[in-house]
Amino acid sequence: MADTWFRQEITDAVAPLLPGFGVEVVDEIDSTNTELMRRARGGQDVPVLLVALRQTAGRGRMGRPWQSAQQSAQPASLTFSLGLPLSPRDWSGLSLAVGVSVAESLDPARTAGLALKWPNDLWVHDRKLGGILIETATPQSAPSSAAAARYLVIGIGLNLDARPSDGMSMPPAWLREWRPDAGAGETLRDVVPPLVRTVQAFAQQGFAAFAERFAARDTLRGRDVQLSDGVAGHCEGVGWGGELLVRTPEGLKSIHSSEVSVRPRRAEA
Ligand code: BTN
Repeated sequence: MADTWFRQEITDAVAPLLPGFGVEVVDEIDSTNTELMRRARGGQDVPVLLVALRQTAGRGRMGRPWQSAQQSAQPASLTFSLGLPLSPRDWSGLSLAVGVSVAESLDPARTAGLALKWPNDLWVHDRKLGGILIETATPQSAPSSAAAARYLVIGIGLNLDARPSDGMSMPPAWLREWRPDAGAGETLRDVVPPLVRTVQAFAQQGFAAFAERFAARDTLRGRDVQLSDGVAGHCEGVGWGGELLVRTPEGLKSIHSSEVSVRPRRAEA
């Protein structure tokens, strides 16, 4: 029977880049990120793609919960984590490079308007399509000389179908709005191999290699923005290290912290 998750196809594409790579699909788990972080802390550092049909404790950035859409006959959301050892010279801007990769896989010609909202959101016309949660752990097996080698967990959640707004100011976006036939497995197959290539290119070249492609999809650049720490100003895009640049009355501020959230300020009615 055909594998709706394209496990073999994904493995064939990724294993030459990541020897030992495997794909696991589970019906239910607390969180694919939590599971891969647990394994890494327990000493496992093999490259793996973990996909879950349901997460009971999905996590987003800044300690927020990540709620998946209700699953029906076909999956209404896609939730997975990619885990692999990585030792880039500089980690700054990784979530932005990941966003570029996913956006280019899902909307290559930008016809759907798939944009990136610093630092880790995928947006379509100011509505959230998905999010990225990046975490790292130090493998127990790492020798002290390999201080930079860490186990990286990239978690991605995408809405495939419509889902409730859950108190959001704007209703979420979903992939089947512009890819009506997008199945969870096909989407995974389209996203994961380019994502692995992106992560490896990032490790070699850093965020600078992705900066122009991020700028082409940067939804905040040129807009007035409000940060959760009270800073308000005009967004001038992101710098070469992936930092958000905000022009304020006090001067240009570079925002590096992933503990800050930012929103475009809406025009007064
Ligand atoms: C965000 O929008 O703040 C990031 C959301 C990331 C959600 C994904 S779903 C798969 C992986 N497992 C999790 O618990 N979170 C990420």
